[in-house]
Amino acid sequence: MADLKTIIFTRQESTLQLLQSYIGEIEGVSFLASTDDCDKAVNALKELNNALFVVDLSEYEEEVLNMANKVSSANPKIKIIGLSLKNDTNTYIKAMRSGIEEVLQIPIVKDKFIEAIKTKDDSESKQQKGKTISIFSNKGGVGKTSMAMNLALELAKCTKENVALLDLNFQLGDVATFWNLNPTFNISYMLENSNKLSKDFMLSTFEKYDNTSLYILANPPFYKSADRVSVENIEKLVSAMQKVFSYIIIDTSTGFGNKIMKVLEMSDLIFFMTTVSLPALRNCQKCLEMLEETGIGKDKAEIIINRYMETDDVKIEDVETLLRKKIYWKIPNNYFIMMEAINKGVPISYINSSSNVAKSYRNLALFVENNIYRKNL
Ligand SMILES: Nc1ncnc2c1ncn2[C@@H]1O[C@H](COP(=O)(O)OP(=O)(O)OP(=O)(O)O)[C@@H](O)[C@H]1O
Ligand SMILES: [Mg+2]
Repeated sequence: MADLKTIIFTRQESTLQLLQSYIGEIEGVSFLASTDDCDKAVNALKELNNALFVVDLSEYEEEVLNMANKVSSANPKIKIIGLSLKNDTNTYIKAMRSGIEEVLQIPIVKDKFIEAIKTKDDSESKQQKGKTISIFSNKGGVGKTSMAMNLALELAKCTKENVALLDLNFQLGDVATFWNLNPTFNISYMLENSNKLSKDFMLSTFEKYDNTSLYILANPPFYKSADRVSVENIEKLVSAMQKVFSYIIIDTSTGFGNKIMKVLEMSDLIFFMTTVSLPALRNCQKCLEMLEETGIGKDKAEIIINRYMETDDVKIEDVETLLRKKIYWKIPNNYFIMMEAINKGVPISYINSSSNVAKSYRNLALFVENNIYRKNL
């Protein structure tokens, strides 16, 4: 581990001494300075590219949070650990908003302190980028949201790893309504706080679904102008998520807007949803060409046929010939199960886990898990 310099902000001599003694025992971490003056701390940290900043929140909390906010906004690479006498969610959320990545309770437990520092080292050295799959189509109503949600859940269940579901339908996102969610934080909030997107911040503010390892970032439940969201902020958000989650599943809106294009570019796979009607397939063909022309590339686009029926006039072989591409997956048609799930506000597998659609989503998740790393994306 490269030498990580630490600045401690506290008014308590005993806290300072304790932390200095802990730091002395950690390899690759050194004590640089201590202060109880906010301006001095901010100025000292400006000089450092990468540092650890430990802030004691037990006195003048607002002032200290304000200082942390300034430091994290100026340089997101500085890891800030808070110390607090209180153990309440309010302090925790306020701390996260100010860019503090972790809050430790006073009296400080040595192992917890060491673990908090190690998390920084791990997240910097491991950094295997989470696999990102965008669910896309240039036609509305083809089953993108159903796919994004059920695939994300099945991936979380079969891999047990942290999976994120991101709703990028800026104006009329369906994710929250599909599963009756009422998330405390939504995408607008994340984008407003895009300098603070640490692991802890995301894991504590995204909506964790029903005791699984699926974390959902939904859209605001009201119309919000998409113009206020910049491409840069979307890029920041997705790349921060890629550092934390093993899989990121993105439900997109129809069309080739610049935000969606950015997300497609950042994706490892694009699941292109279509049905087998001729107009839908022609549209699909045009979209594949467009992906090629824009440089995003059609190789990472995989075709998913939704609402597939054996009795369809157009056969899979015909589709493959027309698109000059193998079909990646087929989701069977099952109007009743899909409707029941939407009406009850639950995933498909909660309605009937042995139904053809539930199995298809589950097997797709297993297929993705087995193939995505082998493909070495
Ligand atoms: N495999 C399926 N079998 C039957 N019905 C389905 C299937 N997949 C999706 N549907 C139904 O099709 C409708 C549209 O699905 P969904 O909202 O997922 O599509 P979408 O592409 O996200 O739409 P939009 O473009 O409006 O965002 C929903 O009523 C859904 O229940
Ligand atoms: Mg949708």
